[in-house]
Amino acid sequence: MTDTPLLHVRNLHAYIGSDRGVVRAVDDVSFKLASSAALGVVGESGSGKSVMARAIMGLMPAHSAQTGEVYFQGRDLLALKQKEREAIWGKQIAMVFQDPGRSLNPVVRVERQLTEGMRRHLGVSSSEARARALSLLEEVGVPDPERRLRNYPHELSGGMRQRVMLAIALACEPDLLIADEPTTALDVTIQRQILDLLRDVQRKRGMALMLISHDLAVVAGRTDRVAVMYSGKLAEIGATRAVFDAPRHRYTHALLGATPTLDHERHTPLNLIAGSLPTPTDPPPGCRFAPRCGFVEAACTDPGPVMELVGPDHAVACINSVPVGADDVVGGELVGR
Ligand SMILES: Nc1ncnc2c1ncn2[C@@H]1O[C@H](COP(=O)(O)OP(=O)(O)OP(=O)(O)O)[C@@H](O)[C@H]1O
Ligand SMILES: [Mg+2]
Repeated sequence: MTDTPLLHVRNLHAYIGSDRGVVRAVDDVSFKLASSAALGVVGESGSGKSVMARAIMGLMPAHSAQTGEVYFQGRDLLALKQKEREAIWGKQIAMVFQDPGRSLNPVVRVERQLTEGMRRHLGVSSSEARARALSLLEEVGVPDPERRLRNYPHELSGGMRQRVMLAIALACEPDLLIADEPTTALDVTIQRQILDLLRDVQRKRGMALMLISHDLAVVAGRTDRVAVMYSGKLAEIGATRAVFDAPRHRYTHALLGATPTLDHERHTPLNLIAGSLPTPTDPPPGCRFAPRCGFVEAACTDPGPVMELVGPDHAVACINSVPVGADDVVGGELVGR
């Protein structure tokens, strides 16, 4: 990537105070995202994907601390005042969450929820905002948009609510859309439709997308690059094809081996990775995957790995990485679903 990235996250740490101690949810994560590109962020539940997204947005919970830099169009978001940050939310960076039930206001009609941001950020008149709202609903495949504008969220199906959420996120034409598990609450067919829609809209608008999912198949085929997180750390990042075809981190390799392919029933684990994520308040020294890894050597825990380039756009933090051309690499073709 030679041009200035749209988003440049540098040494991001996000720690949260809890009654169990300090949760090191995001620990020294760095990556870049180019304008108009789609980056997938994958990792097991609890690996820090959502906290990272929230830290980028400056939406951390109480009793938390974040350090590092989050350059967005060259400005460090973490150094901005709250007011300056609020001006960016929705307008330049928008976010779609997993559960539209919680994100939509149940007592406000769709029309107001859709037009509010446009009126505030774009200063358009109410009739202009309404016209835009109708065309947005059409763009995201909501039939009979006139009627839908008058609906309350509970009058819509889960899939329609998620489409409305997407329309709200797109309303102010953001440069970056962060979609955090945007479809997990939906059934498989609707999930696929919405993910494909997201990808189409992203391409058509030339918007950057960060697509977060614990499901590798969701990001396969819909993203240009993928970042693999493990226990608050970035394990591997690179072109999606390169990472999926030839993963170099032992964790990514194991994760791909545990992912069902299209030949198998959905959610049938092939060989689950034994063990679980380390305690986030007390992670092991060095590589956090070491306790579950079958290829550990002394240097994995002391000093531990650092991110190293293994290809033009492929970096990995693994001391004993998977050799190139290893024939035991992934047990099948991973096809997006
Ligand atoms: N508000 C909070 N208070 C305390 N700990 C939190 C809070 N939010 C997240 N955590 C902890 O931070 C770590 C990272 O959580 P996060 O929600 O980012 O995981 P995730 O990768 O998004 O998982 P999932 O796939 O389940 O959404 C976990 O250990 C989680 O328990
Ligand atoms: Mg999450």
